[in-house]
Amino acid sequence: MSKRRILVTSALPYANGELHLGYMLETIQTDIWVRFQKMMGNECHYVCADDAHGTPIMLKADEMGIEPETLIEQVRIRHQADLDDFHIDFSQYHSTHSEENREISELIYNRLNVSGYIKKRVISQAFDPEKEMFLPDRYIKGECPKCGADDQYGDNCEVCSATYSTTEIKNARSVISGATPIEKDSEHYFFDLPQFEQELKNWTKAGHLQDEVSNKLAEWFEQGLQQWDISRDKPYFGFKIPETEDKYFYVWLDAPIGYMASFKKLCDNSELNFDDFFGKDSDTELYHFIGKDIVYFHALFWPATLMGSDFRTPDAVFAHGFLSVNGQKMSKSRGTFINARTYLENLDPECLRYYYAYKLTAKIDDIDLNLQDFKKRVNSDLVGKVINIASRSASFVVKKYDNELSANCIEKSLYDEFVEAGSDIAKHYEARNFSHAMRLIMKLADKANQYIDEKKPWQLAKIEGNEKEVHEITSLAINLFKVLMTYLKPVLPEMTTRSEEFLNVDSLKWADIQHPLINHKINKFKPLMTRIEDDQIDQMVESSKV
Ligand code: MSP
Ligand code: ZN
Repeated sequence: MSKRRILVTSALPYANGELHLGYMLETIQTDIWVRFQKMMGNECHYVCADDAHGTPIMLKADEMGIEPETLIEQVRIRHQADLDDFHIDFSQYHSTHSEENREISELIYNRLNVSGYIKKRVISQAFDPEKEMFLPDRYIKGECPKCGADDQYGDNCEVCSATYSTTEIKNARSVISGATPIEKDSEHYFFDLPQFEQELKNWTKAGHLQDEVSNKLAEWFEQGLQQWDISRDKPYFGFKIPETEDKYFYVWLDAPIGYMASFKKLCDNSELNFDDFFGKDSDTELYHFIGKDIVYFHALFWPATLMGSDFRTPDAVFAHGFLSVNGQKMSKSRGTFINARTYLENLDPECLRYYYAYKLTAKIDDIDLNLQDFKKRVNSDLVGKVINIASRSASFVVKKYDNELSANCIEKSLYDEFVEAGSDIAKHYEARNFSHAMRLIMKLADKANQYIDEKKPWQLAKIEGNEKEVHEITSLAINLFKVLMTYLKPVLPEMTTRSEEFLNVDSLKWADIQHPLINHKINKFKPLMTRIEDDQIDQMVESSKV
């Protein structure tokens, strides 16, 4: 098969807060898939960026008394450090507040405009007369028109669950200044989504989406597509709309364009050609990994934006479910709203990578991080099963056989079984069924341990004349370990590096699994990972409480 050329993205995190373990689910899922593609010999680029525009970021900078540019720069540095420490291997990490993004956003807008997809119309909205800004719904609070509960948000009541429009709320006030909002007119720019209805219907049924997602879309089509408001009035932190004085692109217009901008930046610093990946006739592959809450943006607005501006559309949008911790929504008071950094201060990033892999499927079901189960699973699978194979065999080879593996591979059928499992494991990785892949790998690890248990090399070694057999048994065990670590490499890059050191090989390659190491010198075994202890978890939860 010829080499595939693939571009992959994860959704862009907002630049006004720290990364948490929910977002890490997304980047770990993406990163495993990307690393797998590279192991298969495919060309695979992985880009992301901080999503730097919008009202919350502007107001947060305001509150801190700094410029938004300063805030987003500080946050980007912290985000990148977190992602790096979780071994997320981006080809490029950029920001939506960049020249590349401004250029492409303007280009796309201008093309949409020329083709008649942008409509202007005056609308009336809540306005804060003191702060002199229009107020998004979440910046208005007041009394619920149904049950009278105070301190409810502009569009829904948390007490009685009523939904209403901001004009119905009683004693409304601006969350920003406390002033009573007034209604004010302003001209807005709309993207005429309904013009794409037929094209979108075809696209959403053409195998680019998971079944659950296309069913959801069918419901949205039934409700009818609406024009999409893509402009915001000043003050706003974003890009000014061409030929206007005080209108800005709504953050969600330029956010997905940030995928292109990040890739553009990568192209500018390499031999890569932008049009190969985004041009209308491109024959490369493009995939977006996202959470299920932003499907509307990625499966409707985004493909329509691309269709209307003469770019290619994605091959697929891969949505995942939401992370819960200990069976509940992440909660600051329970200490289960865990930041990436807090995790890193207490635990090994690869433990989480493995646990997520063990749980992730191609479905959009939510995923629970039960901290006790997490500890048990990692300790039992990685330390108890996989590493155990190497640690119990290595000392024989090192001490008794001068670090050298045996001259032949016995039990060829067992070894072959490990090799043959590789094609199913690869299929599961490709289909994002990491959970199935992990289960198959752990079944093999069980087999290897059973083999060692049955052969009992530690007993054989006590009797003279068994040297050759002991050597071959322990050498086979190490070769089985090598195959397993090759399969786990997309999930556990650092543990793989330590294993490569131990096995004294350059790099574990999928294409090499058929070939056991013969007459090959290995290095002294060093612990590849340490067990998770309760106090690490307790400490992490304690530090997450506010
Ligand atoms: N900035 C937008 C995305 C723009 S993409 C062009 C955004 N940012 S976000 O920070 O709120 O979320 C980023 C990603 O993290 C989204 O895909 C979202 O679904 C995902 N997650 C946020 N919380 C999550 C969980 N608790 N669990 C799993 N994924 C979560 O939306
Ligand atoms: Zn109410």
